[in-house]
Amino acid sequence: MQTERSSAAVPVPIAPPVRLLMGPGPSNVPPSVLEAMAKPVIGHLDPAFLAIMDEVQAMVRQVFRTKNRFALPISGTGSAGMESCFANLLEPGDMAIVGVNGLFGMRMAEVAARYGANVIRVEAPWGMIIPDHVMVEAIRLHRPKVVALVHAETSTGVLQPVEAIARAAAESGALTILDCVTSLGGCPVEIDGWGIDAAYSATQKCLSCPPGLSPVTFSERAIESVRSRKTTVPVWYFDVTLLAQYWGSDRVYHHTAPISMIYALHEALRLALEEGLEVRFQRHRRNHEALIAGLAAMGMELASEEGHRLQMLNAVRVPVGIDEAAVRRRLLSEHGIEIGAGLGPLRGTIWRVGLMGASSSRENVLTFLEAFGSALREQGMAATGDAREAALAEYGRS
Ligand SMILES: Cc1ncc(COP(=O)(O)O)c(C=O)c1O
Repeated sequence: MQTERSSAAVPVPIAPPVRLLMGPGPSNVPPSVLEAMAKPVIGHLDPAFLAIMDEVQAMVRQVFRTKNRFALPISGTGSAGMESCFANLLEPGDMAIVGVNGLFGMRMAEVAARYGANVIRVEAPWGMIIPDHVMVEAIRLHRPKVVALVHAETSTGVLQPVEAIARAAAESGALTILDCVTSLGGCPVEIDGWGIDAAYSATQKCLSCPPGLSPVTFSERAIESVRSRKTTVPVWYFDVTLLAQYWGSDRVYHHTAPISMIYALHEALRLALEEGLEVRFQRHRRNHEALIAGLAAMGMELASEEGHRLQMLNAVRVPVGIDEAAVRRRLLSEHGIEIGAGLGPLRGTIWRVGLMGASSSRENVLTFLEAFGSALREQGMAATGDAREAALAEYGRS
């Protein structure tokens, strides 16, 4: 008897290259996180898995610095967390004020509109923060149901101040949604301290876990607002009242949890807490400062507003006459380093250099400066100053 063979060749097993991930995410994943993903898959209602889920929830609360009962990873990337916040908190005709000063603010406004909200965009130029008083005035004038902000705008490298805006929102009875995709695990995020009602993040940035989960938290006030909706939550998959029944003590099947990703997140959160959040934030700050000292020595400038710069994502202005894409290509092909391009109006004018999670290290800063200098020289730019020396001097200071 002849065995049937497919005429199409079956691909060989994959062998992705090893990269230094210094773009806007994903960041490099520590070996123990990858190893956690290789542990045996068990059932999503197995008591051993339920115990792991409980630990994950407790650690999600710790990194968000919240006592909220609802704190868990949504199955999906950061955008799934964004969808879950707007789908639950908005009903058709509700008013939402969204701060827009980059691509992810634009995405929030678009998502809110898709759930039927009447969206008011409060805009600032890309690379600048949205001033408190502008948002506060809009909140007092319109008295919206929801106020939404991006904490760390990955498209521009700007850290948005949120405290005064969240306070004004609470005073007017609005719920504040905060995008913490790039900030969580890299700089302080104070969900309870700032009075945030709903927040979402993603695993692949400063938590250094593969992409695929979105840690989300809702305050009791936010959950109460979902319970008192006139209409059902339009997306069954993201309905927080159903998710709470699976992740809470009821353990009612909702969807099959991505077991291996939850293992990975457990390990990534464990590593973050073992390092200590304050120590981790300090590490991100030191590496950012050393990087920008090195870049300054090369004559490079940042495009984000001074005093409001992200320490995990640096928007570096492309000098006149330099081929932005060629530099990125060279870094990848010759040095195995990935950095990001500009998005939207910043396309072609900035590089986005990430120092997120495990990728934020002294070794990576020095390796990058060396490789970046060589890629720029390749483009005909005469290097000015000694970037390595400047970075080392900065390390010596801090
Ligand atoms: C600030 C911000 N919000 C939302 C997202 C969307 O996350 P994801 O690409 O994981 O869906 C990103 C992704 O880079 C982001 O940087």
